[in-house]
Amino acid sequence: MVGGGFHQGTVNTITGSSGTGKTVFASQFIHYGIGQGEKGMIITPSESAEYMKREMMSSFGWDFGAMEKEGMLSIIDVTDPVLRLQKSIDVDPVDFLINFRKLVERKLEEEKPKRLFIDDLTAFFMAVEAPFKVRSLTDDLFGTIRASGVTSVVTIGTAFGTNQFLEYGADSATMLNRERIGNTLIRSIYIMKMRGSKIANSIRVLDISDDGLSVSTLSPYP
Ligand SMILES: Nc1ncnc2c1ncn2[C@@H]1O[C@H](COP(=O)(O)OP(=O)(O)O)[C@@H](O)[C@H]1O
Ligand SMILES: [Mg+2]
Repeated sequence: MVGGGFHQGTVNTITGSSGTGKTVFASQFIHYGIGQGEKGMIITPSESAEYMKREMMSSFGWDFGAMEKEGMLSIIDVTDPVLRLQKSIDVDPVDFLINFRKLVERKLEEEKPKRLFIDDLTAFFMAVEAPFKVRSLTDDLFGTIRASGVTSVVTIGTAFGTNQFLEYGADSATMLNRERIGNTLIRSIYIMKMRGSKIANSIRVLDISDDGLSVSTLSPYP
């Protein structure tokens, strides 16, 4: 659908409502890369790393714990008190995002991964009131990621309406949805934009099975 894949050193957003497959998409991106010998990094701002590892193991048999031990993957749990990146209602969201950007910069420098996955930052951006601040915080974070040369996937929820700002600043934007066809819900995917690539201008069926995600050549519509 994107004529080959994500370009190296870019920020690629995956947007969708809850349960559309964002985390599976990005986890598969990391898992596949490790299979190709490309070191991965996962940053989980909104759920614990342990929970995600368990879920990917039980759903698809992707053993992120083992890959971590082999040194092919680093998982950064933002809730880890050692990082002193406090995430509570007392912390100003702008301060949080500034510190988060610094953390990402430091970790990318230390670990030098080829692929990066940041899971759902929407809640933090939602808490920032002024749209121009959201824009500049997004630019700073995405700029840091690009400067390191890592290829990244950032997932975005749709509940809070801040997704457009993040998509605007990204190099590509992929949308995941559920389409209601008669009485059934069908998962779907389309590419909203990709800088520097010709993209498929169609909505395709997205399947999740024990092997992970796959994109069909079919349209969800009859
Ligand atoms: N082995 C599997 N086969 C089919 N569907 C699965 C499998 N494992 C997980 N799923 C489905 O994948 C979805 C999880 O998507 P997820 O990436 O967590 O959503 P999001 O991050 O967008 O909220 C759930 O709806 C779950 O039922
Ligand atoms: Mg998720």
